[in-house]
Amino acid sequence: MTRMTMPEHGMPREAVLQALRDRKAGDADWEHGRVPLYVFKATDEVARIGRDAFFEYFFENALGGARAFPSVRQMESEVVQMALGLLTAPPDAQGFMSTGGTESIIQAVQTCRDWTRQQRGRPTLRGNIVAPESVHPAFDKAARLMDLEVRRVPVGPDWRADVAAMEERVDADTLMLVGSAPCFPYGVVDPIAELGALAQARGLWLHVDACVGGYIAPFARMLGRAIPAFDFGVAGVCSISADLHKFGFCPKPASTVFYRSSELARCHAFDFDGWPSGRFLTSTIAGTRPAGGVAGAWAVFHCLGIEGYKRIAAELLDFVDRFQAGVRAIPGMHIVGEPHLSLVAFGSDEVDVFRVAELMSAQGYLPGLVQKPRALHRMMSLVHEPGAAEYLDALRDAVDAVRGAPASRATISASY
Ligand SMILES: Cc1ncc(COP(=O)(O)O)c(C=O)c1O
Repeated sequence: MTRMTMPEHGMPREAVLQALRDRKAGDADWEHGRVPLYVFKATDEVARIGRDAFFEYFFENALGGARAFPSVRQMESEVVQMALGLLTAPPDAQGFMSTGGTESIIQAVQTCRDWTRQQRGRPTLRGNIVAPESVHPAFDKAARLMDLEVRRVPVGPDWRADVAAMEERVDADTLMLVGSAPCFPYGVVDPIAELGALAQARGLWLHVDACVGGYIAPFARMLGRAIPAFDFGVAGVCSISADLHKFGFCPKPASTVFYRSSELARCHAFDFDGWPSGRFLTSTIAGTRPAGGVAGAWAVFHCLGIEGYKRIAAELLDFVDRFQAGVRAIPGMHIVGEPHLSLVAFGSDEVDVFRVAELMSAQGYLPGLVQKPRALHRMMSLVHEPGAAEYLDALRDAVDAVRGAPASRATISASY
């Protein structure tokens, strides 16, 4: 392959922008709901305020919040405070913004590891994390970085964490239990109350990964939907990760990580003085990070308020109810488990849904897949609503086509 070289001379601005638009034309069509994840949208108005706020703070650096940009630091603190209010947090709870779910999770694991090492007087404890097999790979990424072990435990028949099976994997080196609210593969909220009881009985740290649900489940509960308790209202929950850039509908990159108390948050920050330039104190793994992510989250919170988030949650979850009914109405198709929010997996005992995905892919639908059990998968926001009827028609046609065709092996695989 010949390596691309930097152009000798610059191009005019319009030509550069046109080149970007031309490149985009070959990307998947998320705007018409043909991408099953990655992009989260509420309304045009919400997207606009997030975008405008982001560009209002385009040049500022959230790394310099403490010294140069007090407005950024203040907004970050206010976003965290408002979010804590949604998560039944006790008065002494603390939180921090980060650049994404993965960073929030890595920080929670590191904080738990360091705190536990101190508590147990075992400064070299390697340690393990006991989690349902449905948790996000961010825990394995954290474990790789910190040389920890992740013990993934098969889930129960309802696709939720099997707490008794998890307890069997706990030993003297266990640092953390994990539950998701909800998990990525099936969209179900794990039995957090039972996990909390186990954590308390065994003196363990329970982390709830609410990266997906953190900013929609509170409003779903306010609307009277049956969402299992998952936040600090559950005894034993020590930390929670919740992504602003998913169902908080804030611009990327933005997430949050919370601790039940300032004592549990003690090991979160990185505070270092051993270099020529003096004290270096950060609350994120990233150093430089966009202040636009902070401003965007602050602006979206203020634009929507509780009433606005409830309105969007109501519209989205009603749409997902209709979508699920549409899937069930297709002969041979079923929903995997009983998803609690807008993330849904659907499979079939009659046709190979990976073959179905291949046919839909040929129609321009980027496949979302689960490999265990084989299922199609969609993490839906309101961007998926206008094209849902068309999607369901395409699904029905693809199921019929696979049913009617001679058996053949799907070559597609689940990957992200
Ligand atoms: C349950 C869950 N946790 C964590 C993450 C990681 O989030 P991010 O992609 O923002 O790092 C995801 C991403 O989809 C997720 O679904």
